[in-house]
Amino acid sequence: MPVYRSALLRFADDGRALYDEDGLLAIGPDAQGRQRVLAAGAWQALSHQYAHEPVTHLPGRILAPGFVDMHIHFPQTDVIGSPADGLLPWLENYTFPHESRFVASDYSAQVAEFFVAELLRHGVTTALAFATSHPASVDALFTEGQRQHMRLITGKVLQDRHSPDGVRDDTEQSLIDTEALIQRWHGVDRLGYVITPRFAPTSTHEQLRGAGELAARYPDVWIQSHVAENRDEIRWARELFPAARSYLGVYDDFGLMRERAVYAHCIHFDDDDRALMRDTGAVAAVSPTSNLFLGSGFFDYASADRVGFGYGLASDVGGGTSFSPFHTMLAAYYVGREGQTKQGLSLSPQQLWWQHTAGAAKALGLAGVVGNLQPGCEADFVVLNPRATPLLERKTCQARSLDELLFALIVLGDDRVVEQTVISQAKYGPSA
Ligand code: GUN
Ligand code: ZN
Repeated sequence: MPVYRSALLRFADDGRALYDEDGLLAIGPDAQGRQRVLAAGAWQALSHQYAHEPVTHLPGRILAPGFVDMHIHFPQTDVIGSPADGLLPWLENYTFPHESRFVASDYSAQVAEFFVAELLRHGVTTALAFATSHPASVDALFTEGQRQHMRLITGKVLQDRHSPDGVRDDTEQSLIDTEALIQRWHGVDRLGYVITPRFAPTSTHEQLRGAGELAARYPDVWIQSHVAENRDEIRWARELFPAARSYLGVYDDFGLMRERAVYAHCIHFDDDDRALMRDTGAVAAVSPTSNLFLGSGFFDYASADRVGFGYGLASDVGGGTSFSPFHTMLAAYYVGREGQTKQGLSLSPQQLWWQHTAGAAKALGLAGVVGNLQPGCEADFVVLNPRATPLLERKTCQARSLDELLFALIVLGDDRVVEQTVISQAKYGPSA
């Protein structure tokens, strides 16, 4: 049974960070053979229970929950850094042409291998990811996620109109493919399926209706899409669905708002939209580097909290500019500052970290499963080196509080801080 001695970061149920400078993390298999946290807390209080176990001592390091990325596009790994006037030209000129390459299984497999390795290198251990409209891309990503024992949720993109040849799918076949992929992958090992209409403008009414029917038939499957990201996109959606109360209302009209429904961006909302999110249990994937890069706008944290709907952080690569949770948390901080000038809000480092770990897990319906290091959680964690660069060393040595330490890591950190990513390895299969 692995027992670690190191500084240890985890979260209470209310989102407060719990930090033991000299901590203990004990890990062991559950009845299914999956590695879980058995004990987590102060070394002094817990070590006598493990007196006969070998201990991995990591002085100067911090053990922290693996990060949870609530929205990322695996086929946009190579689209990062493609400049455009805004979302729609970016999709047309860079993203759709690139995504058409994922019709090929070997290309999909090669990118999937790089993508999963990149997530792990950055400390991301759970991801909700878009594939492309090609079933081969979904098979490729699930296969790689399974090989790496990752908790990975993905799905075939549905887009049967206003999309070029090469990515546009056929309405009926797209729904048949989606159901077959659900049956093939959902719940296998640590994998989950997500029904994935790209966004309302690229789906017909029939396709959205079919997606909603599948969402009702498979209630523990996730749903993901984009909403209210960009003003031109919103205008287009309103023209195409004039009967809907709002852009978000389109998804509601087709049965696509429920728990486990994750909508990226959610920037240009009114309070009725926010109340709809709250009342249906749908959540937002806040993607600040993408929103800044594409000039989409600023997520309104204060209004989200006032009305009370769930959200967490996401990279949104390749609209987003980085796989690094540190970069995403810093961008979220800037966005919170923008809100602060208007509404007196500022995000604390503990809140930012929670939004990318336990908070994101909660938003995905995975509270107590991942994103934390409390007893019972699956043992996905990172080993952080707060002295990974000369400036980090200088700065973190001067931290007088947990907030100062976490803030230094958020502002100065990146993949160099992530010394190891440990995935809850389980022995799967009937003999486990
Ligand atoms: N809206 C529809 N498709 C996309 C996409 O791939 N990225 C972003 N950021 N927004 C979208
Ligand atoms: Zn996206």
